[in-house]
Amino acid sequence: MITLNQVIAGYTPGIDILQGISLTVAEAEIVTLLGPNGCGKSTLLKCIAGFLSPRSGSVEINGQDTSNIPIHRKIRECGLGFVPQLDNVFNNLTIAENLQTGGQFLPPAQRRRRMAELADQYPLLRKKWRAPASALSGGERQILALTRALMPNPSVLLLDEPSAGLSPKMLLEVFSAIQTIRRQDKVTILMVEQNAMEALHISDRAWVLALGKVAMSGKAQDLLNDPRMRELYFGGRAA
Ligand SMILES: Nc1ncnc2c1ncn2[C@@H]1O[C@H](COP(=O)(O)OP(=O)(O)O)[C@@H](O)[C@H]1O
Ligand SMILES: [Mg+2]
Repeated sequence: MITLNQVIAGYTPGIDILQGISLTVAEAEIVTLLGPNGCGKSTLLKCIAGFLSPRSGSVEINGQDTSNIPIHRKIRECGLGFVPQLDNVFNNLTIAENLQTGGQFLPPAQRRRRMAELADQYPLLRKKWRAPASALSGGERQILALTRALMPNPSVLLLDEPSAGLSPKMLLEVFSAIQTIRRQDKVTILMVEQNAMEALHISDRAWVLALGKVAMSGKAQDLLNDPRMRELYFGGRAA
């Protein structure tokens, strides 16, 4: 579960990018964060992840105030998993080594067990186990980034544009993996997406940001039918 209370945040030195954001993601929900380029979506995820401390307000993960806890401790102690928008795998490391780095805090035996589990769940990773990540397709790389974040069994997962640059077929595969993660492991998922319609189809709810504030929010199904959303995000297409 994620709860943001009136979060104000920005980069030092600089203006407030997030100007008082309150939102929630309930346990085992998939929630999408939408909004135009530069409105602060990635900043919001970085703030929840602990790359950035809020200037005021609070960020709670599973009921604990984590506002000033840095990312490495959130991953270790608060059940956080984070897949950033860019540079989310190590290109020069193999698939196996990438997973290993995702579980660097785990005791070695547990780490090996978890790597074997993920290799069973994602056969495409096992197939290229000893290949460098640079040899993967865009979709495979995104699956690797996801599984790398899953190594410590997080309860909360933040995904920044998981479908960026993917073909429609690979998008479906990545979204299907996201649904499976929620269903099997009851993970709470907050994802930023540009493919609004596709993302809403696998989401329970969504929040729309504009200029650092929440502009709209609601059930995914209601937003899919909202004429304002149709105009802004679906290019006039009916959902
Ligand atoms: N590391 C940074 N340092 C300073 N400003 C930044 C940094 N990252 C992003 N910004 C600024 O914060 C604003 C929001 O960016 P971002 O959160 O990346 O938007 P979005 O993900 O919605 O496209 C933009 O004006 C951007 O230029
Ligand atoms: Mg972004």
